[in-house]
Amino acid sequence: MCGIIGFAGRENAVPIIVEGLKRLEYRGYDSAGIAVYDGAKFAVTKKKGRLAELANEVDTNPISGNTGIGHTRWATHGEPSDINSHPHLGSGSRIAIVHNGIIENYKQLKEWLEGKGIKFVSQTDSEVIAQLAEHYYDGDLIDTVVKVTAALEGSYALGIMCLDEPNIMVATKKDNPLIVGISSKGNFIASDVPAILSHTNQVYYLDDKEIAILTNEEVKFLNMDKEHVEKSVETISWSLDSAEKGGYAHFMLKEIMEQPKVLRETIQAALAGGDLIEGLDISAFNKIVITACGSAYNAGVVGKYVIERLCRVSVEVELASEFRYKDPIVDDKTLVILISQSGETADTIAAMREAKARGASTLAIVNVVGSTIAKEADHTIYTSAGPEIAVATTKVFSAQLILLYILAVDFAVKLGKLDIEGKERLLAEIGALPDKVNEILESIDDIQKYASQCIGYKSIFFIGRNVDYAIALEGSLKLKEISYIHSEAYAGGELKHGPIALIEDNTLVVAISCCPGLKPKIFSNVEQVISRGAKVLFVGTDSVDEDDKLSLIKLPMVEELFSPSLSVIVLQLFSYYVAANKGLDIDKPRNLAKSVTVE
Ligand code: F6R
Repeated sequence: MCGIIGFAGRENAVPIIVEGLKRLEYRGYDSAGIAVYDGAKFAVTKKKGRLAELANEVDTNPISGNTGIGHTRWATHGEPSDINSHPHLGSGSRIAIVHNGIIENYKQLKEWLEGKGIKFVSQTDSEVIAQLAEHYYDGDLIDTVVKVTAALEGSYALGIMCLDEPNIMVATKKDNPLIVGISSKGNFIASDVPAILSHTNQVYYLDDKEIAILTNEEVKFLNMDKEHVEKSVETISWSLDSAEKGGYAHFMLKEIMEQPKVLRETIQAALAGGDLIEGLDISAFNKIVITACGSAYNAGVVGKYVIERLCRVSVEVELASEFRYKDPIVDDKTLVILISQSGETADTIAAMREAKARGASTLAIVNVVGSTIAKEADHTIYTSAGPEIAVATTKVFSAQLILLYILAVDFAVKLGKLDIEGKERLLAEIGALPDKVNEILESIDDIQKYASQCIGYKSIFFIGRNVDYAIALEGSLKLKEISYIHSEAYAGGELKHGPIALIEDNTLVVAISCCPGLKPKIFSNVEQVISRGAKVLFVGTDSVDEDDKLSLIKLPMVEELFSPSLSVIVLQLFSYYVAANKGLDIDKPRNLAKSVTVE
């Protein structure tokens, strides 16, 4: 979704903003723009399309200034175009803004302003903020920001500049992320850490309805009553390397290859002494609900199988976008687990707030420190995965699985369903996963070779049973989002209830089989589809006899409950190489955004 970067400093802001925008590309965008105060006016450059177009434009027709704002836009209101790109200016060109979020009452505000003779130039909801600010401005930008935000309904992270106070930049937010970075060369606002990590690792996390005022020397924070707010600066531990490709063709491949390390660090952090989640008494709940979106939801489906098996507690998994509108049955006896890489997914935030309003306790599994979900949930545990740049999640998904396994073991012990020996055995199995993942990564060539033959398929099916079904969901999602090949995942047993009608000559079916007790069942599904003309890629811990219809990728032996951590690696690599062989923009698949901050 949209990305914001702003700089108030002692050097030309333009290259800093262009670099920051590059590091925000992964969030997904269709146009980009910059506005800087050039000593007399706002110099603005905006371009539809890839960031290279904008960079090219500012090279050919340079603009410069020490204070400026930049934006990558993911269109919601109005098509991607130069004019709809941000920054937006008021019609007197005295106020410039960048906005991430959605203004729900923009139509009413626009009509009201148009009634006063103000002319709008774009189709966006965001322009209303610039026009309203200019209309309200009476010599004090902070007063203006207070008035404007009081009038806005919806979500926003905002960077605002005013020609009459050219040396300050003002930022505020509601329900969308914004950080403030400080450095010796100047101060920054940004949607997230990678945008400014090459300049500083010292950041403040802005809370909703706080105002940050930046000059080239200092940063101050106020609330909406213009009272001073004391905030503490945080040091980001992510290294700059983690936000660079490091010689890999794509961030996605780099992040896949990082998984043994990520798993090790996530395990270490979770088991580093003390209670996993202080103050959470699992015996106080009679039900667990896991809610999330996309891949994080798929991790939740794995979590359901594992927690139910080990703890004998009923676990429901709900799509966060459905949970909030279904009058969910949760109360103070329910533990609601939120899973989110970004911690900013609008539907997951809304589900968390809905659950809290109904008295449930909330536990978040989050990657981004300081994110909304991390801060608002009653309890938070972190995936130690570092920044994930590729839109398609890989390493964070794997880290989420690890935390769900460890949680399940912890809960099972506390509920008296697992003795110490059982606990030690399962933790040892979890501890062995990073090396086993490494083993799979060493046989990457086999997967690459197989995937290179699969680019012509129009449709690919994934089947599995139990945790293998859960991971089939993730394999199918990964494939469709980066390779644009249609794909579906089914529980093996469901095939003959409908989907088998789609199987014909040369359909590809990927069958996952890591549950020894269910191998005969999934194998009979494999035989059923082969006899109808399908080809099958069998991903499993057991051998099968290969022939021209059946190929095998064999996984190391593993406790079946934790096998998704191995099978998913094969599925990630399979999708990656199919997409790479099709020459696609793997890190930034069409229409997708890394962090879905609007509903
Ligand atoms: C798919 C993917 C998405 C996210 C989903 C939730 O590869 O990355 O499906 O899992 O948008 O995002 P977070 O985890 O940030 O809440």
